[in-house]
Amino acid sequence: MSGRLQDRVAIVTGAGCVGPGWGNGRATAVRFAEEGAKIFAVDFNPEALKETIERTQAAGGEIVGHICDVTDSDAVKAMAATCAEAFGGVDILVNNVGGSAKGGPEVMDEATWERQVRFNLTSVYLTCRHVLPHLRARGKGAIVNTSSTSGLRWTGAAQSAYAATKAGVIQFSKVVAVEYAPHNIRVNTVVPGQLHTPMVEARLAGQRTGGDVETLLAERLARIPLGFMGDGRDTANAALFLASDEARFITGTEIIVDGGMTARCD
Ligand SMILES: NC(=O)c1ccc[n+]([C@@H]2O[C@H](COP(=O)([O-])OP(=O)(O)OC[C@H]3O[C@@H](n4cnc5c(N)ncnc54)[C@H](O)[C@@H]3O)[C@@H](O)[C@H]2O)c1
Repeated sequence: MSGRLQDRVAIVTGAGCVGPGWGNGRATAVRFAEEGAKIFAVDFNPEALKETIERTQAAGGEIVGHICDVTDSDAVKAMAATCAEAFGGVDILVNNVGGSAKGGPEVMDEATWERQVRFNLTSVYLTCRHVLPHLRARGKGAIVNTSSTSGLRWTGAAQSAYAATKAGVIQFSKVVAVEYAPHNIRVNTVVPGQLHTPMVEARLAGQRTGGDVETLLAERLARIPLGFMGDGRDTANAALFLASDEARFITGTEIIVDGGMTARCD
């Protein structure tokens, strides 16, 4: 049977996860593989990739792991070339690397601000810069970038660099979408909300509630009209649609995956 991404070559960055379970990148790699894509799984942490590779292979998928820091331009250029060489081209790029650091302008030091910009926004520019030539060579392609509802609204904490860079991802994607539409390359953004991914336990509770996971989860849940927290698989399903031919007439836009949180004004 033919999958929705049958034989497409997909680069997924941040395809590992900070812990066991369904982070956004891991879920995207596995979900795309279930639909027939060949996965080029990029992460700078080989340990984080292990579970992604195991789960993809268990699902019968084809996957190659590649170690690369997506904030390093030379490494990203080499990554794109290695993927094209390994699989004979590139069809899809999913940019998933990113994460928050706490603090507004007075709290966050300049070095942290610069790191946040590089981590969340420059990384997306760099992968587009070096993967777009391969998509142009195919005469067709899809890019799915990952923002956050923090790029659209206040989400419970002063994390101004994260909010600004994630808003930047949305607008960057729109402009690149219009520029590359004549090349039949679509560029869209998934905007995940307050998910329960391993990142909540691994990092966010330390940033937000002094390590108290239960309090943080309760705070997040209270903001969600649907009354439950999604996880990386919800992000992956939205990315799958945007990467597939079902979205052939969709470019320069976003899918918000947040259980209705952004639609509610409080
Ligand atoms: N988890 C959420 O609730 C949530 C909500 C909204 C948006 N997002 C966004 O989704 C994306 C993924 O978040 P997550 O929490 O699922 O991921 P995660 O933190 O669990 O995993 C990210 C992976 O990226 C890798 N990575 C980090 N820096 C890298 C670099 N410079 N080069 C290569 N690999 C690198 C890590 O090793 C890790 O395996 C991020 O962009 C995040 O901002 C997450």
